[in-house]
Amino acid sequence: MIHVKSEEEIELMREPCSIVGNCLKFVGERIKAGMTTKEVDTLVYDYIKASGAEPSCLGYYGYPASACVSVNEVVVHGIPDDRVLEEGDIVSVDIVAYKNGFHGDCARTFCIGEVSEEKKKLVRVTEECFWKGIEGLKAGTPLYDISYKVQQHAEGNGFSVIRSYTGHGIGREMHEDPSVPNFGRKGTGVRLQAGTVICVEPMIAAGTWKVKVMPDGWTAVTADRRSAAHYENTLVVREDGFEILTLGSEK
Ligand code: MF3
Ligand code: CO
Repeated sequence: MIHVKSEEEIELMREPCSIVGNCLKFVGERIKAGMTTKEVDTLVYDYIKASGAEPSCLGYYGYPASACVSVNEVVVHGIPDDRVLEEGDIVSVDIVAYKNGFHGDCARTFCIGEVSEEKKKLVRVTEECFWKGIEGLKAGTPLYDISYKVQQHAEGNGFSVIRSYTGHGIGREMHEDPSVPNFGRKGTGVRLQAGTVICVEPMIAAGTWKVKVMPDGWTAVTADRRSAAHYENTLVVREDGFEILTLGSEK
């Protein structure tokens, strides 16, 4: 069941959402070759705690960190460890913060130094998929119009969309209804109501969309080990459009 938020609830969601948006700006200014993914996680943990929020991922079904840090062939849920970031890597950082009784969820993919043309395009197209997906979104839009537009843009650029992970509703729980896939048929799915808060999160692969989960039970890698990228924002559907809550404002 989709829990449509009241204006009061949306007000409470602004803070956790802006914290994750700003946190990823903060991370983007600091992430560089030579850092370990664990050091990225520490930046995230410290930032979220200093903002008076809690890192929602830490302990979520036993997840051992505050951030998911997914390098190159890792699609999502990369567990921070001693892996050292190298020039040419692309790194997605996905974080969720809890404050005021609500969660905010956001992900970005960063390029470490100079990366290949293919990776550069993958990162760019993945963000574009987000913006294309929500083009024209407003109350009454069929949910899978978003999915369809994301898929069209990804496949139109020669990439594939990950099938086994999706966007989702968010609120008092990190994952609420509806599920927001990155593939689907235009004109289908529930018609979104004003006040619905969802995470739209294209996860796009350079090669196959098939993924394999590693024995740690979390780390999802592409079956062909080619790169994948991820871009996510939390947004609220409005009568006449939408409002993105996780863009952040910090310079
Ligand atoms: N941010 C992820 C999402 O969008 C959730 C991370 S899974 C966790 O669904 F276990 F790390 F929390
Ligand atoms: Co999410």
